[in-house]
Amino acid sequence: MSLLEARGLRGGYGDTDILRGVDLVVGPGEIVVVIGPNGAGKSTALRALFGLVRLRAGAVRFDGHDITHRPPESRVRLGLAYVPQERNVFPSLTVEENLQMGAFVRRDDIRSDLERLFELFPVLAERRRQRAGTLSGGERQMVAIARALMTRPRLLLLDEPTAGLSLRSVDVLFARIAAVHREGVAILMVEQNARKALAMAHRGYLLVGGANRFEDTGPALLAHPGIAEMFLGG
Ligand SMILES: Nc1ncnc2c1ncn2[C@@H]1O[C@H](COP(=O)(O)OP(=O)(O)OP(=O)(O)O)[C@@H](O)[C@H]1O
Ligand SMILES: [Mg+2]
Repeated sequence: MSLLEARGLRGGYGDTDILRGVDLVVGPGEIVVVIGPNGAGKSTALRALFGLVRLRAGAVRFDGHDITHRPPESRVRLGLAYVPQERNVFPSLTVEENLQMGAFVRRDDIRSDLERLFELFPVLAERRRQRAGTLSGGERQMVAIARALMTRPRLLLLDEPTAGLSLRSVDVLFARIAAVHREGVAILMVEQNARKALAMAHRGYLLVGGANRFEDTGPALLAHPGIAEMFLGG
């Protein structure tokens, strides 16, 4: 059974449909990557999965539940977490305070989770008392991801985690995302560093104009001549 299954998503902002029939499926333990040109609706699709876009049609199922009309906090309780493309940390709070904020839905003891995440992101352990706004771009993305993991999700939605990072920081961050995946968290991520992202993906989707254009395994998408030429930089 799929962990996440979104079918025929239509909707957007105001009267304009940005999503015009999007399908996205993530199996348990999968890494799935969404690529596509600017304005294709990739971020809107992730927001829709998290309950932040009003849908005119379509349905979203997560872990056997129909979550189409549930608010984001209810999706979080079921095991879904989302890291937006921008403004995804509290800059004036320390690294540790950011992670504590991530545990907002929890009433139990979060100390062991904090320590586990600092093991997963050792750079953050060294900077736990530093304000997030003073971190490098790559470190900030790690804070955003670690904060999302504080709710113990089964599926993590990541919107362009490596945007604006140096080549070296991209590799470092992808290695951390792979480590998160090894802990048993499925990943659905939008990425512009498409080659590197697809290289670590089980499957990928190409979204164009708010609709699915193509989907296949990561390796098949990488090897596809038309897609490589148009969307992977040759
Ligand atoms: N809050 C909003 N209100 C109105 N229109 C919006 C809003 N956010 C996005 N849009 C529009 O929706 C369309 C799709 O935007 P979206 O951010 O989903 O694209 P994207 O594929 O993530 O692009 P990028 O690669 O640039 O991040 C764009 O035309 C954009 O202008
Ligand atoms: Mg986007």
